Amino acid sequence: MYKLYPYFTNDGSVGLFSPEADDIYHSTYGALTEAYEKFVLPANVKYFLKNNSQIKILDICYGIGYNTKSFLNYFLEKFFSNFEIKNEKIFNNKANIDKIYSNNIYNREIYTDNIEKNSETLINIDTIDNDNVLCEHSINSFQKIPINPHLNNEALYSNNLACEKSLCSGQKYKIFIKALDNDKTLLILSPFFRQGNEDDKKYNNLNFNYEKISKLLNNKFEAKYKLNPAINFALLYKICNKLPEIIGNSEISNILDSNEYKPFFDSEIMACFKKINESDVSEYPQEAISSFLHNIYYNHISTSYKIVLEYLISDNFIFEPVIGDARTSLINDKDTYNLIFLDAFTPAKCPCLWTLEFFKLLYEHLSEDGMILTYSNSASIRNAMLNAGFYAGKIYNNEFNKFTGTIAVKNKSLIKFELSEYDLGLINSKAGIFYRDKNLNLSNGEILASHKSEVEKSCKMSSSRFIKEFKKKNCL
Ligand SMILES: C[S@@+](CC[C@H](N)C(=O)[O-])C[C@H]1O[C@@H](n2cnc3c(N)ncnc32)[C@H](O)[C@@H]1O
Repeated sequence: MYKLYPYFTNDGSVGLFSPEADDIYHSTYGALTEAYEKFVLPANVKYFLKNNSQIKILDICYGIGYNTKSFLNYFLEKFFSNFEIKNEKIFNNKANIDKIYSNNIYNREIYTDNIEKNSETLINIDTIDNDNVLCEHSINSFQKIPINPHLNNEALYSNNLACEKSLCSGQKYKIFIKALDNDKTLLILSPFFRQGNEDDKKYNNLNFNYEKISKLLNNKFEAKYKLNPAINFALLYKICNKLPEIIGNSEISNILDSNEYKPFFDSEIMACFKKINESDVSEYPQEAISSFLHNIYYNHISTSYKIVLEYLISDNFIFEPVIGDARTSLINDKDTYNLIFLDAFTPAKCPCLWTLEFFKLLYEHLSEDGMILTYSNSASIRNAMLNAGFYAGKIYNNEFNKFTGTIAVKNKSLIKFELSEYDLGLINSKAGIFYRDKNLNLSNGEILASHKSEVEKSCKMSSSRFIKEFKKKNCL
């Protein structure tokens, strides 16, 4: 059976481990927090949507979808004034789920009349002054940059938003998200993962050998962000429609029914899927699933979730999962994107998605005003970005006073934190030698082997010598 290695991270979201990659999928300090702070907030979405009514996102290495979900949550929170995460359940009455269409899923009449058409109140986009009261923080002792300690991580990136109480309605925006991953099972399971609390850590049965994780999971619990449950429901809806073969799939049912994994899944979403699963949808799968979920939505979803859910299941939000090697998926893709989230396993584990050639491929898929965001700070990744034609900059986390990732852009003015003299020096040392995959078809093992031999042959300065000399020169 397909095996999962889940545990609750320090913000209650579920993190996974991959024995094959010998790598974690998510940061232990919080899978959801990481998605927000490394991918969504630095993208300055409010600024982008100030000038555009549609946004196209490419989520490379979707996994269980935290980057997509965090983006949607952020968008709903900022652009739907009535967005509010209630403590109540998403369904009016849980018992109803059992009754829903247990007799006849082919009841394809779509109920639309009992929806409350709340008139959309308009939102306020926060205004953040371009504060010039700056102070200095030293970053890893190598770079001093002026940072305003009064800004939170969101404000840090959105303070170039013109001070204007602009009012806009979320419904006017179109969102297109393409999600790439080679693990179909995981993608299908993505809407089922729940957000727990400190107590749920008792389910953390770390039955894999990764000592580092267990130590870090004892850190402080802090649920900074909370996902609106409508997001998982909408993703289930979209995934069932795109991949109707998942209905009646015994592998998926076995995973969902397994006692080992149950604590990590949301019981409401599971109950809903179970009902679809029990029905015979073989004849017209897409239509049947669609009407089934629509009917659940119109009859059983709590009023407080209706507005955002109506938006998410409408065609204003298009979710397109593409299963397969991200290189092939992209070679066959003709779209360009405004945001690209690159969340592959670390370069040492999954180099095929960090090569010069892969970044060149990404260059063709990024719009002129677009941005690639990634958690990697590696000199070789930054060098590959530069050689592919991008400008590279850094992602800064105010709270930790740390650089936590890299962005690649075509328009230099989108960079808020430029590479420092230290970063550029490291890029020119052996540490900056990037991975190669000439025809975008080598295995990770082949890429690693040729990279190793190139580093060994290179006459460039070693990174340790560069760091030593840099420290000496700068009296550090
Ligand atoms: C670090 S995890 C991504 C976590 C994810 N963003 C999330 O929010 O759950 C890396 C993901 O890359 C996928 N992956 C690994 N190699 C891949 C490849 N060559 N093409 C596409 N996906 C790949 C894995 O299946 C895994 O889901």
